[in-house]
Amino acid sequence: MKTTIAAVRGRQVWDSRGRPTVEAEVTLAGGAVGRAIAPAGASRGAHEAIDLRDGGERFGGMGVGRATAAVNGEIARLLAGRDAADQAGLDAAMAEADGTPNLARLGGNATVAVSLAALHAAAAADGLPLWAHLAQGRKVRIPLPEIQIFGGGAHAGRRTDVQDFMVMCPRAATIREAFEVTADVFRAAGRLMEETGRLAGAADEGGWWPVFDSNEDALAALLRSIEMSGHRPGEDVFISLDVAANELDGGDGRYRLGLDGAEYGSEAMVERVAGWVRRYPILSIEDPVSQDDLAGFAAATRQYGERVQLIGDDILVTNAERVRRAADAGAGNAVLVKVNQAGTVSRAKAALDASRELGWAAIVSARSGETEDVSIAHLATGWDAGQIKVGSFSRSERMAKWNELLRIEEAMGADAAFAGPSAFAASVAAGLA
Ligand code: PGA
Ligand code: ZN
Repeated sequence: MKTTIAAVRGRQVWDSRGRPTVEAEVTLAGGAVGRAIAPAGASRGAHEAIDLRDGGERFGGMGVGRATAAVNGEIARLLAGRDAADQAGLDAAMAEADGTPNLARLGGNATVAVSLAALHAAAAADGLPLWAHLAQGRKVRIPLPEIQIFGGGAHAGRRTDVQDFMVMCPRAATIREAFEVTADVFRAAGRLMEETGRLAGAADEGGWWPVFDSNEDALAALLRSIEMSGHRPGEDVFISLDVAANELDGGDGRYRLGLDGAEYGSEAMVERVAGWVRRYPILSIEDPVSQDDLAGFAAATRQYGERVQLIGDDILVTNAERVRRAADAGAGNAVLVKVNQAGTVSRAKAALDASRELGWAAIVSARSGETEDVSIAHLATGWDAGQIKVGSFSRSERMAKWNELLRIEEAMGADAAFAGPSAFAASVAAGLA
């Protein structure tokens, strides 16, 4: 069979933070080759698949020698002779061989690279771009991007407590237009930083390094940047925040906002964010509370989940079971889908499918540690996820994904439909109509 796996190879390459990461290459009997690189997070949830690192002195403990050896050894032997077109079978085989619930033994970074590489190989054997291979002839939408302007939290030395200050252009006609508007806002934000003596470089995902006196100052600067760009806040351009509140919770259920000199319990934290939602044109909020604070997430959803997208990242960790449990608790209306959080393509897809059954929105997302790998542009499109999050509008590990989406849009031709408001859960979409 031409999709029979002939060889699996792993190698150490480097990510956008200059840290080692795993690349996998899968070669099929028919000659098709697929390749993928594992990304890496900095603000990780405790329930994610394990990013296996060597520890010790070398590379600050970040080496991936063991994960790469797992690809070249155990995983290569396990998958040789199997059908790359059977993604579920390959992923289940790796999970079973690993034997832990969170892929701790082989490493989620090893399994995700191989899982994605096999998918790429199957698409190549089909003679199709990955998005089309996944779409299987169904009509799919070009995803709506959320794009970072200021990067804070764990991606910028905790200069702000809120991690991502982003924009979304759901009323753009095309992704091309959304990028053009975002480029204007990004440029205006840079000018504002320069004029106010606050230009201090770039954060991990390419956003401006946030030199602000409070978290709300950053929000005000983002609003001002949108105005300076000549586009209309709350009309053409909306604000999206990733609070990444997991990083603010010391493990005692108390949220410490260092920049604001404030400490909150769950209820007060939800109220703090609610205040921002009242004062700014905010359309989407990610992780307003920490990974185990389902009650807080439900409270946030009751307070502003009708009009605002409420995304679970660290609290849901791309896990279908956790998505269903959250929905049962009335917590959230959207799931962030990070393939490496799940550890395999199949597990990530299951989380996406769960969200769809619940009428939730889904956002396929990059990590703060990225590479030239553009798989997520294809997954977001081919799975018809509706939304994508990649980081900012600078640095090539980010721009590679945005540019790939432009190529996909062009390849779709007249069929290219931009997700726009349809990307959100029903009540949020209705608010945009
Ligand atoms: P991470 O952050 O990739 O550093 O975990 C991204 C996010 O929180 O969405
Ligand atoms: Zn997040």
